[in-house]
Amino acid sequence: MTKDKYKNEFATATAQAFREAYPDIFAEVGEAEVFAGDVIYEGLAKPKDPSMGRFAFPVFRYVRLLKEKPPEIAAKVAAATAWANGTSEAVAGFLNARIDPVKQSEGVVSEVLTKGSHYGDSDEGRGLTNLVEYSSPNIAKPFGMGHLRSTIIGNSLRKIYRKLGYDAVGINYPGDWGTQFGKMIVAYRKWGDNTTLTGNAVKNLLTLYVRYHVEAEKDTTLDDQSREAFQQLEAGEAEAVKLWEAFKDISNAEMQRVYDLLGVKFDWVCSESDLNDKMEPAIERMKRAGLTSISQGALVVHLEDEQLPPVLLKKGDGATLYATRDLAGLIYRWGKYPEFNKSLYVVNTAQSDHFKQCLEVIAMLEEAERIPADKRMTSRVKHVDFGWVRFAGKTMSTRGGNTVLLEDVISEATDLARTKIAEKNPDLADAEATSHMIGIGAVIFSQLSVRRTRDVDFRWEEILTFEGETGPYLQYTHARLCSLQRRYGQDVSPDVDFKLLSGDEEQRVIELLADFPRVIADSGEQYEPYFITAHLLRLAGAFNKVYQRKDADGNIDKIISDNAPLTAARMALVKSVQMIINEGLHLLGLKAPKEM
Ligand code: ARG
Repeated sequence: MTKDKYKNEFATATAQAFREAYPDIFAEVGEAEVFAGDVIYEGLAKPKDPSMGRFAFPVFRYVRLLKEKPPEIAAKVAAATAWANGTSEAVAGFLNARIDPVKQSEGVVSEVLTKGSHYGDSDEGRGLTNLVEYSSPNIAKPFGMGHLRSTIIGNSLRKIYRKLGYDAVGINYPGDWGTQFGKMIVAYRKWGDNTTLTGNAVKNLLTLYVRYHVEAEKDTTLDDQSREAFQQLEAGEAEAVKLWEAFKDISNAEMQRVYDLLGVKFDWVCSESDLNDKMEPAIERMKRAGLTSISQGALVVHLEDEQLPPVLLKKGDGATLYATRDLAGLIYRWGKYPEFNKSLYVVNTAQSDHFKQCLEVIAMLEEAERIPADKRMTSRVKHVDFGWVRFAGKTMSTRGGNTVLLEDVISEATDLARTKIAEKNPDLADAEATSHMIGIGAVIFSQLSVRRTRDVDFRWEEILTFEGETGPYLQYTHARLCSLQRRYGQDVSPDVDFKLLSGDEEQRVIELLADFPRVIADSGEQYEPYFITAHLLRLAGAFNKVYQRKDADGNIDKIISDNAPLTAARMALVKSVQMIINEGLHLLGLKAPKEM
């Protein structure tokens, strides 16, 4: 756990003060928990009224042990506290921690300025491997919004874990196997020709797929034909394999284009078909462990005890299934990255039962094989689920039905951004590149704008405003901070008079800067890039209060003024905020334009 620096300092100082204030009792109970810094750290709360200090510690729980009343205890302990960066004040039964604003400003701002993009780096993950699977679109189908959300959350988690010192392995697991390829093959044989695989091939494939489903309603033999075609594929028959490979090439090219646009990276692409030779050994292992049975000709694992439907490993015709591949994949990943710390699957919540089933089967397998608890993978594997993306405003439907094509979304977002820039800043030098950063940034940010388990309401009017809680707003704030630095025209130094940053507005900004490392650690721990999103919005909001502050005469209290020491101090804050917004946007997967 990465701790908040000042909170931790205060907890340690308070623990020490308890020991000094009550030496006899301390001698009696020794290193008892109640006097431990960690326990005090956990007990620290934020006072509702900020004028009561940054955090407060209630001493009531010591009444019995110390045989004194709370105010007495608080007074004694406060008096014994020696804390270099602040004070401890007894108020009734509480110890209120007040951080010395000047010391805090100095500590935080100089740390941010010296560490730059490394501020918030940690070594909590040293020597540990975290696998993060994300995106995993289905081949021969368009890249939809659901896969976008997985892509964006996972890509951010990979960056967060790297920052926290983990070996992070980003995995893409494209769906390129299964009965739907039997359908595609049949559809192609019936209605496709050479032109299907050229031009806008992905849309052509979608059209075929949709047509298949329409026709299958009328013609029940189609499904038999497609089962057969999938069998041909599983048996490696040349014509079927050739078609499948053509579908795959088309989709891969499209996927790569999308990833390049979004700036998304993977360390390992392991598609479903890569598990073809790994299913049989996995099935054998499950059989040996006595987990499988035959039910209506199919090979299954029953999970009644867990109140889950059985997992189908093989159909009567011998065809393998989605779950068969995931089980083989779980075993494969554990073999390839032995004793990984975490293996995450960033997949829509609709698949919760599927992951519960797979993980239960693995748990049963590890149990049956008597694998020691600390050598099991089950507790380290996690389905990182997320909600739906809904289109509230303009719905974009393709000819093929209600699928929203990500590429259309991105190009529309970029167009909108281009129009905005032409309005606001017609002289911008690199308007085209900036429009891309903003358009794509808006789309990415929209996916991280709420906690991951909540649904995203995607509205054009909302995601692209420069004023709301949006990606463009943060990018705009960043650009403004860069422009201030250009106007200042001098090097920003941490060697300033920190007393000049003790205003409430500045202090709020500095508190948020101080909290950034903890927020990153929490996002990693709870698989929640949204924590960073929310923190950046708070930071930008707090900084805007400094920026827009008025003096007694109602004039804007300018950052850059004739007062050189004051300007230097404020510019140190400006640069710190700019660097943190830059780093935060980077962790979310957005670019931070210097001008816009
Ligand atoms: N390709 C699947 C789909 O689009 C998602 C794969 C999720 N990952 C996994 N290991 N099952 O529904």
